[in-house]
Amino acid sequence: MCGIVGYVGERRAAPVILDGLRRLEYRGYDSAGLAVLAADQVQTIRRVGHVAALAAAVPGDLAGTTAIGHTRWATHGGVTESNAHPHLDSTNRIALAHNGIIENHTGLRARLEEEGVTFRSDTDTEVLVHLVRKFYDGDPEAAVRHALGLIQGTYGVAVIFWDHPGVIIAARNGSPLVVGKGNGETFLASDPHALSAHTREVVYLEDRDIARIDARGWSISRMDGGGVSRVVEVLGEEWEDEGRGDYSHHMLKEIHEQPESLARCLRGRVVPDQGGARLGGLDLTPRDIAGIRHITVLGCGTSFHAGLVGAAAMEGLARIPASAEIASEFRYRNPVIGPDDLFLAVSQSGETADTLGAVKEVQVKGGKVLGVVNVVGSSIARVCGHGVYVHSGPEIAVASTKAFTSQVAALLVASLSFARTRVLGPHEGKVFGEELLAVPERVGEWLASEPSSLHDAVELCTKGKFVFFLGRGVSHAVALEGALKLKEVAYVPCMAYPAAEMKHGPIALIDRNTPVIVVIPDDVMRDKTLSTIQEVRARGARVIAIHTAGDSACAKLADVSIPVPRASPLITPLLSVLPLQLLAYRAGLALGRDIDRPRNLAKSVTVE
Ligand code: AGP
Repeated sequence: MCGIVGYVGERRAAPVILDGLRRLEYRGYDSAGLAVLAADQVQTIRRVGHVAALAAAVPGDLAGTTAIGHTRWATHGGVTESNAHPHLDSTNRIALAHNGIIENHTGLRARLEEEGVTFRSDTDTEVLVHLVRKFYDGDPEAAVRHALGLIQGTYGVAVIFWDHPGVIIAARNGSPLVVGKGNGETFLASDPHALSAHTREVVYLEDRDIARIDARGWSISRMDGGGVSRVVEVLGEEWEDEGRGDYSHHMLKEIHEQPESLARCLRGRVVPDQGGARLGGLDLTPRDIAGIRHITVLGCGTSFHAGLVGAAAMEGLARIPASAEIASEFRYRNPVIGPDDLFLAVSQSGETADTLGAVKEVQVKGGKVLGVVNVVGSSIARVCGHGVYVHSGPEIAVASTKAFTSQVAALLVASLSFARTRVLGPHEGKVFGEELLAVPERVGEWLASEPSSLHDAVELCTKGKFVFFLGRGVSHAVALEGALKLKEVAYVPCMAYPAAEMKHGPIALIDRNTPVIVVIPDDVMRDKTLSTIQEVRARGARVIAIHTAGDSACAKLADVSIPVPRASPLITPLLSVLPLQLLAYRAGLALGRDIDRPRNLAKSVTVE
């Protein structure tokens, strides 16, 4: 959600902070701010809007070699300058940036107000800086520890004190923080992305760690006072910042990266000679796999949609009863977890609070949960301990595209591996594996010859008041994903339904010219979905069909025909989602939206 950056060293801190904030901006971009310590003064600059607005307001010669910065996704309090972080105590001598939510802020605020504190923002965070001030007697770490002891909720915090130049106090509980080691300088960030330009040696703080950071390094202790040492890890190449290249937007670049990201995900994992797949990270023996009673795939948003495809593959290919569930719902329904159940937590960022909460719920009940994660070293990957990295590479656009296809591919590989252990013969396994390995090239070919009919689809969708997305089986998951993309990137109201459900109510919404996008590959459900097309057409809908190339009956029936290559049913989502990603992108462009940073959103949702 929000991003935190900190720096102590010998350089002027402001440019380092601004660079870090730019790299973190995809996480939250309502407002941004920084606080710099110079000559025993804390100077704070905050601005509503993107980091560029903040950068324009920061004087080029701003001195100070200790600083913290923040980019915000508003939770408590509107998008205003006074609600932007860092927040200051009443004497303007302590500055604090916070990610997370302080759940008991109302009571704490009332008590502080009774004690005479005047608040200057509507945020939950501000109570924390006043509490730190209240307990400060010259020992910054002790004051932060004391203040956090009164907090219920989640936090990643960074605090600087006017009388401790060269020191940042950082603490984590539920909101990630990473410390980076430089040469005579030390960095802090909520996400290694902000650090990769400066250092690759990092230490991840764990929940309830508190760190005292200076230019020489750091000391970490536990919130209860116990000492602890954390291992220095080296960031891999996946953290390299590749920029946008020749593409106008990260989203378009990431759509076009799918041939490589898919190839990376599949490489070395699918073994056609053995008719199976190899996924060492899962840490499951053939006996474990044979004993699985049920698989639940957990995730949110796009990751949930990938999970729907994964569950269908686990059941359809590996013949293991499986379902997908929205993580935020799962974690609070007191789920029954059996000893032979397996859970897969799917997440691009690996930081989604709802998914992390679901993982912990499984673990509390003694269940086995594996991560299907993109970001190496992220919280979900670390808490799960085992799993599959999807290797889609950094995804910067808020709308997830290449992560979706890599998540689906990773789940298909896992299904193939489980299937081969339980029910699938070597020949069928080989055929499926070879088809999977051919997908990256087919994706590349389709993207290179994007059908012109896509423009007609964009026109229909941007002119319509409301768009329906329909599909059945795994194509329903694709329809859900297409609708999510169109909502978040183009702000076009839309809804996805399993096609056969239309007649049970939603068809009442169909009017003359309502655009209806139907994902209809040539599978066992094709003929039934064709009937739904007839039904909506009879009521005036304009049908955009995403269908198998060569299906002329389907093409003829549709107002707009978008062919995708033929594939086995479980593999079709990797191809049929492509036009829907591009449709959302082009619709967003036509409507003048902020494609990579749509309104009200953030890339990783680290609050509940
Ligand atoms: C997708 O386009 C979204 N922006 C969003 O739904 C996202 O997939 C969801 O928040 C889950 O994120 P994760 O994969 O990082 O856990």
